[in-house]
Amino acid sequence: MSNILQNMTIHYFSNPQFRPGLAYGVDQRNILGGQRFIDAKQTIEQWQGYSPSPLVELPHLARELGIKNILYKDESRRFGLSSFKALGGAYAVFRLLLRKIQYDYPQDDVSLQDLLSGKYREVTEKITVTCATDGNHGRSVAWGARTFGCKCVIYIHSTVSQGRADAIAKYGADVIRTQGNYDDSVRQADHDAKQLGRFVVSDTSYEGYMDVPKDVMQGYAVMADEVLQKIPSQQKISHVFLQGGVGGLAAAVTAQLWEQLGDQKPIFIVVEPDQAACLFESAKAGQPVAVEGELNTIMAGLACGEVSLLAWSILKDAVSHFLTIDDQSAVEVMKILATGQYGDQNIVAGESAVAGLAGCIGAATHPDLKKALQLDEKSCVLVIGSEGATDPELYQQIIGKTAEQIWSAA
Ligand SMILES: Cc1ncc(COP(=O)(O)O)c(C=O)c1O
Repeated sequence: MSNILQNMTIHYFSNPQFRPGLAYGVDQRNILGGQRFIDAKQTIEQWQGYSPSPLVELPHLARELGIKNILYKDESRRFGLSSFKALGGAYAVFRLLLRKIQYDYPQDDVSLQDLLSGKYREVTEKITVTCATDGNHGRSVAWGARTFGCKCVIYIHSTVSQGRADAIAKYGADVIRTQGNYDDSVRQADHDAKQLGRFVVSDTSYEGYMDVPKDVMQGYAVMADEVLQKIPSQQKISHVFLQGGVGGLAAAVTAQLWEQLGDQKPIFIVVEPDQAACLFESAKAGQPVAVEGELNTIMAGLACGEVSLLAWSILKDAVSHFLTIDDQSAVEVMKILATGQYGDQNIVAGESAVAGLAGCIGAATHPDLKKALQLDEKSCVLVIGSEGATDPELYQQIIGKTAEQIWSAA
């Protein structure tokens, strides 16, 4: 047994609601997939600078863990925003503006090009989109607002770093810092939007707010589609370890693979920081429950205490196990990737990017869990490296090098 991450603290819970034989049906397609996914994919593929993100193999690390292969979907350079979130928030802004223009001009067949060229500027410039964020989603919404021509106000909570705030402001958004944690900032953004006539573009869904987060997740699902386009048909992904904040990323990737692969779908495992494990706790409770408190984790993108209800509807049936990991293990995995420690390619991965891979390492080095998850020498694991150095200062502090230095050594 390998001794990687010997000091890792990992907890796991086998999901009693897991329904392995369930077909991807109407309930799931009402949330994700179907024609609305095809629309999202076709739109995003036309955006300037689009190309599928790399799918990097980590065969040496896999061998160390006694599994066949690890596929790492590297989102560190997506649209120059450094995270997968570029796919979701910006697409939801596009869809929201499209709906507003179509309302004013019901006869017109409005296109992406119309929005990009500013043809309906007199409609879009009166619209303000808003959201709460721990960094990456707000950056995407701000970028979308600038690209498609509307105004933008972004809320960040008390522990979001100044580097992340600056990265959002760079796209012309007003950035407001609030008291409390992420969930408090969600409520503040929602409250102010109601008072001031702004449109919330949130990455999390809650009672009475379901449409926009579906668009956000349809955008994320493009990642899973890219993976399936890339891998040879005979290569079968056996496991996917997905990090969870509110669950949107995990649900989008799960749904897309489930819809496309049917009963050949892999085993899905969700991984969260032990300090912000709302999906894990919900699985234990058998229904969505909130985790209170500071949610103090270095994995800033995963510091969420309340699940997205839409994401939960997908995950509760599809996920076999929920795991939690500690912060120090995430840091170790960032270092393993940055240095290409076992002979694999050097990869720039931010704190939230590595939780899935850390969960995979933890599971493969834990005899009971390895057995429970049927991880063996035939397993091919997919993980989503969901961000690069989105907080460059913190990245350099942890790794001792900048993202550019890592890339130039790769
Ligand atoms: C880099 C990164 N990875 C993963 C996630 C988790 O996504 P979700 O909140 O949809 O579960 C986030 C969320 O902000 C993120 O920024």
